[in-house]
Amino acid sequence: MAGYNTDASGDMNVIDISNLKKSYFLGDMEVPILHGIDLCIKKGEFVAIMGPSGSGKSTLMNMIGCLDRPTGGKVLLMGKDTNCISDNELAELRGFEIGFVFQNFNLIPRLSAYENVMLPTYSNSKKGVDTAQRGRDLLKLVGLDDRMGHKPTELSGGQRQRVAIARSLVNDPSLILADEPTGNLDSKTGEEVMEIFSDLHKKGRTIVMITHDPEMAQYVDRVVYIKDGYIENN
Ligand SMILES: Nc1ncnc2c1ncn2[C@@H]1O[C@H](COP(=O)(O)OP(=O)(O)O)[C@@H](O)[C@H]1O
Ligand SMILES: [Mg+2]
Repeated sequence: MAGYNTDASGDMNVIDISNLKKSYFLGDMEVPILHGIDLCIKKGEFVAIMGPSGSGKSTLMNMIGCLDRPTGGKVLLMGKDTNCISDNELAELRGFEIGFVFQNFNLIPRLSAYENVMLPTYSNSKKGVDTAQRGRDLLKLVGLDDRMGHKPTELSGGQRQRVAIARSLVNDPSLILADEPTGNLDSKTGEEVMEIFSDLHKKGRTIVMITHDPEMAQYVDRVVYIKDGYIENN
């Protein structure tokens, strides 16, 4: 596809990060967190990012998902330099191409499971798509067809995370970013959630997942280790 960066084998890089730096500023003091990260992730890969707490995993994920801006370096998403595109393009990229899943689910308490899943379609939705049907199908996919009207407080942790996964898929993104999606779940429920990601991967989605659970490595193609803001292997 035009616009994509490719390597020698011709595979597409969905994510292409070079010399990415991020500092936070406490008053006048610069606190460097990411020290020049290089990372390529190809279309269809399932990659886990692992590393100790505080090593910069979520900071990196926020840069990939354009939720925050880098201090230096480049993030190319689907071949587009996220620093150079307009706010509109950025909103489109985030709305259509990326699905987010967070550790604490980030559901809206007042809304039902179905309404939570539909939320991203209210601001952005692809023309000609029956989003209402899609929302129902996705809740079915994650095994919650009999819980569509339940509020988050009426669901277990695992069910809430499955609602969040359904929501992340409603605009049919090619890339799923998940920050410790099993971090608040017991191990059995965590495995169920991983099975869902594994199925999505088999269907061709590119998935980047932060985890600190070594057990999760069995599901992925590749593990990237990050420590003190550096990538340890790549
Ligand atoms: N908004 C922020 N302002 C200042 N420091 C931050 C902010 N977010 C994260 N940090 C710091 O950056 C470091 C990395 O955080 P984070 O990326 O959340 O780590 P991880 O996800 O690997 O546990 C930590 O030391 C954290 O305190
Ligand atoms: Mg984190």
